[in-house]
Amino acid sequence: MTIRPDMVGRTIEPLYKTYSWKDVVLYALGVGAGYADLDYCYEKDLKVLPSFAITFLYALMRRSLAETRADPTGILHGEQELCFHDVLPAEGTLTTKGRIARLYDKGENKGALLVVESDTFQNNGKKLFSARTTLFSRLDGGFGGDPPPSGAITMPDRKPDFSIDARPPENQPLLYRLSGDDYPLHADPAFARAAGFDSPIMHGLCTFGYACRAMMERLVPGKPQNVRRIACRFSKPLYPGCPLQTCIWKTEPGRALWRVINTDSGEVVIDNGMFEYGEPPRRDIRFDDRVAVVTGAGAGLGRVYALELARRGARVVVNDLGGARDGSGEGSRSAADQVVEEIRRMGAQAVASYDNVATEAGGRQIVQTALDHFGRIDILINNAGILRDKSFIKMHPENWQAVLDVHLNGAYHVTRPAFAVMKEKGYGRIVVTTSAAGLYGNFGQTNYSAAKMALVGLMNTLKLEGAKYGIRINAVAPMAASRLTRDVLPVEWFDKLKPEFVAPIVLFLCSEQCPASGNIYNAGLGCFSRAAVVTSPGVRIGDGEALPVPEAVMDVWDQLNDLKHGKVYTRLDEQLTDLLQMNAAPSADAGEPSRNPQRPATIFDGLADRFLPEKAAGIDVVLQFTLSGETGGQWHVIIQNQRLTIKHGRHAEPTTELKMAADDFTALADGSLSAMQAFNSGKLALSGDLMKIQLMETLFKKG
Ligand code: NAI
Repeated sequence: MTIRPDMVGRTIEPLYKTYSWKDVVLYALGVGAGYADLDYCYEKDLKVLPSFAITFLYALMRRSLAETRADPTGILHGEQELCFHDVLPAEGTLTTKGRIARLYDKGENKGALLVVESDTFQNNGKKLFSARTTLFSRLDGGFGGDPPPSGAITMPDRKPDFSIDARPPENQPLLYRLSGDDYPLHADPAFARAAGFDSPIMHGLCTFGYACRAMMERLVPGKPQNVRRIACRFSKPLYPGCPLQTCIWKTEPGRALWRVINTDSGEVVIDNGMFEYGEPPRRDIRFDDRVAVVTGAGAGLGRVYALELARRGARVVVNDLGGARDGSGEGSRSAADQVVEEIRRMGAQAVASYDNVATEAGGRQIVQTALDHFGRIDILINNAGILRDKSFIKMHPENWQAVLDVHLNGAYHVTRPAFAVMKEKGYGRIVVTTSAAGLYGNFGQTNYSAAKMALVGLMNTLKLEGAKYGIRINAVAPMAASRLTRDVLPVEWFDKLKPEFVAPIVLFLCSEQCPASGNIYNAGLGCFSRAAVVTSPGVRIGDGEALPVPEAVMDVWDQLNDLKHGKVYTRLDEQLTDLLQMNAAPSADAGEPSRNPQRPATIFDGLADRFLPEKAAGIDVVLQFTLSGETGGQWHVIIQNQRLTIKHGRHAEPTTELKMAADDFTALADGSLSAMQAFNSGKLALSGDLMKIQLMETLFKKG
């Protein structure tokens, strides 16, 4: 019987497993828990050990071994990785969807590695965890496949921060196997001898469970929900009854390396251990079932965006040409490949694209890669970039053109085919990468600044074209250490400016929850701000009939430049309307556009008459209004069971809070200002569930 490499890529049909609190407790007892950690062993307020996730993978492992026809007598656990998206419930039915991802050949008589990737979901579709399971088939080497990547981790050369000792009892495997791994190697002495061992050995995953408990005890005591990722490699068998020690090194906040040692022999039995932990994401921003394309994702910021999107459930196309900083050279596939490998190792899905964004064919091919592999595209981050800095006179056409080709034309080439797919599907999130150099100017970067600011222009119009198809597009101006900024940013800041500080806002802009479109955000070092084109109220010279003279412009220069009370327009016609209104005004003053004189109190009083209960089915919301200005005040609007209640003052727990000027509120109420315009132009500040602002427009007739 020979192993079947043609099975790589094969999807295993979904596997279902129903479990109760007894299975959770049985597992905990199987990995050495007891009275000392009663939370995991007693059904009252039962907590679930994250490593319990393993028990949902045994059926998948058996199916994968059967599909590939691996020799069953030579199977050992090779590596295990678990990434947690949510906490495991104490009972329920979970569905595991897996596929045979890789088959590596270690050589004749050295064995083969079978890699199985999977996602496990709750009944409501919520993804709970992803796994990457590597099985070592000792008798299947030499089939002519690729050798495995080394992937070895260097452990710190210092004493561990924590060493936790344990001694699993001799009958531990007999208890552990009741959780699903009934492979005879761990119970049957004759089978164990035939497989070359003195007696039955511990399940590697049982030792893994001991290690997981040890790390939880030291790093996230009592908080299984804070375990984000556990990974390791099984290096030596362990006999039951042998003492073991879990050694843990904290390497950075939220991350530790670990290994398990047999303290009798000194042998390392589990190596390459990684443990990531931290508070679960506060608001549930997920990208399950979403497909993202990130250009220039082989390094720097793009790599971090791709990893973060994948960590939160997206399937990602990692595009990178792999060229030099200035865009010269042939390009190398390794940049994209490495990031794809990183994503796969965390149990998520990714595919590499080596295409050049600077050509139309390249752009088309990048989007096609997403469609070919994942069948859709929901998110596009235009991030690829190069630099060719020169002062303006030395800015020869080839340097000008090369930078425009990658940044501006690159975004055009990829966005156009992506936009077509998004438009058809009625959903899309696009991010373009602008720069402080474009927004504010930077010596020696005329080409780059022009390209970066042109992207803002592209965004300004595309946001209008995409709006009715659910497509939102925003721009980010990052500030981060990377190959591009190595000699641009101050040395003393370089190490601190991690790209990870930029990723949060980019991910939010890519999320369903993002309410904005057409906005520009600065991000760096955990500081975020909005940048916008502000238009001063301006001044009219003369009566709009007689042509003004330049001297008259000089006379009103200060007033013309005064940005106080400036406006952020969201489309050309808004600005045109203001221009025409200013022209029609009787005096030469650049007054505010006329406002609805109705007071907010009157509007709230009349809101009940405009309420459309038939549109409020299933809506349960409290909108808190805080209106500034002379006629302002606080009101809250409760919509529940298709009934409307309006009260003066504050509500204790509003769903959404809206703060704005009383005048803008009246404009919102009479329909002359949309909630989205108000938000985008900074007139409306929101907190809580941002999506609920749209109810103002759907649940009330226009006043
Ligand atoms: P980086 O050099 O680390 O990453 C850019 C990636 O784009 C590279 O991996 C490169 O191979 C890839 N790339 C270049 N040309 C390509 C092409 N034609 N097709 C496909 N891939 C290509 O640089 P970093 O800093 O991560 O830059 C990412 C983006 O952020 C760029 O658009 C950059 O202009 C922008 N940016 C970065 C700032 C920073 O502080 N790092 C500041 C402002 C903007």
